Formats: sequence, C-alpha cells, structure tokens
Amino acid sequence: MDKLIIAIDGYSATGKSTHAKALAKKLNFTYVDTGAMYRAVTLFGLNQNPKNIIDLRLLNNSLNQIKIHFEEGDEEQQTFLNNENVTKVIRDPRVNKNVSMVAAQKPIRSFLNDQQHLLALDKNLVMDGRDIGTVVFPNSFCKFFLIANPEVRAKRRYLEQLEVGFEESLEEVLQNINSRDNQDESRVTSPLQKANDAIEIDVSNLNINRVFNMLYNQVLKKLESIKK
Ligand code: CDP
Repeated sequence: MDKLIIAIDGYSATGKSTHAKALAKKLNFTYVDTGAMYRAVTLFGLNQNPKNIIDLRLLNNSLNQIKIHFEEGDEEQQTFLNNENVTKVIRDPRVNKNVSMVAAQKPIRSFLNDQQHLLALDKNLVMDGRDIGTVVFPNSFCKFFLIANPEVRAKRRYLEQLEVGFEESLEEVLQNINSRDNQDESRVTSPLQKANDAIEIDVSNLNINRVFNMLYNQVLKKLESIKK
C-alpha cells in the first residue's frame, strides 16, 4: 500500500511545524520539515563564499555535494548538512534573508523534491512546507493550509528567535516575513498557494490546542473515509 502523507502548507510562522510534529507523534508518523531542507541548502550557499553572498549559479551546480538528513533528538528533530548538525544555525537571520531567493530556483526545488519522495518510500509522513499538497505530494490523503495575519506571525517568530538567542527587532522580523511571503507567492516554480482540496485554517485568533484539535479531528475523519 502507498504510504500515507499529511501535507501542512502555509505561511511562515503560522505554527505549521509545531502542529506537524505533534500530529506525527500522536499518529506515529514521521515528521519532515521541508523548510529545514531549503534552509540547509541556503546555508551551504552562504558558506561557499567568504563574504556570505550566495552565488546562485555556483550553488545550482553544487547540489551533488549536498547531503541532508534528519535524526531524532531528545526534544527536537535535528537537521544535518553533510553530517554536520545545523539545526540551530539554519534559523539564523542570514538564512532567513536568503532562503526564499534560493527556494525560487528550479534545480534546487527539483533536487529537494526528489529527496522528499525518497523519504516517503517506507514511512507514513507528516510533511510541512509550501508546496507539499500542490506539487510534492498532490495525492496526500489530508491537506491543510495555515494562514494568519502577519503581525501575529511576526510576534510569534520574534519570541521564538529570542528564545534561541537570535536578536532581531519585531520590525525586522515582520519585514522578513512579508518579504518571504511575497517571494514565495510570486515565484514561477511551485509558488506558495493553497491546494484546491486543502482545508484552510486561519490561526490568528485561535490558541494552539484548539488548532491542534481541529487538525487531528480532520485527520481522523479522512483516515476513516479512506478505510471505507
Ligand atoms: O519556519 P518558516 O515558516 O519561517 O519557514 P520554513 O518552513 O523554514 O521555510 C523557509 C523558506 O523555505 C520559505 O520561506 C520558503 O521560501 C522555502 N520553502 C519552500 O519554498 N518550499 C517548502 N516546501 C518549504 C520551504
């Protein structure tokens, strides 16, 4: 039988990864953070140049040197780039500023799309990202699209960043979120958009438990319907 995929797409800092992790734990699925994969490629590109300026042509030609894998950690899933643990550094504001430009590159999307398919060969997955329900796994049995107003998202991301020691002002975080939204929505290859059959949830005024319960109940319904 084909493996089951739950796709959680949507805007930055809407809580996609929090809910994807919690759903994966509850259902005994594997969580895959596709944003971390785009972030790892971006970090590789930044490190290719001593001035930390990404040369897209060089990066596109170096994809065969990039290996990304995930390992379960005590609390958080850990992301590895060429066997180095990059879980924290891929959240650096330098990466935030460049990741959407990198993610607009067709060869990079195709490279990561292939890797995302390999992950689904032998596991049921909860995958979060921007194009999972539309492009990567359009046959996902359950698809969500999370939205929220930019101010709510910026505040959430600002606090998350402070907690891990990245000090950016709320204004800078908001600017980055708006700029990434624009780039993600307007790119030609796999833009950020809701799949026709995705369930859209505006989380702006909902607490985290409420959102989780909404997602979980929908997944149970969908699981019932595919069993029939
Ligand atoms: O955590 P946050 O929601 O801010 O972003 P992320 O999920 O870590 O993704 C970072 C960036 O990677 C996004 O802004 C997109 O440019 C890109 N991305 C993408 O294009 N496609 C995906 N499936 C996942 C991420």
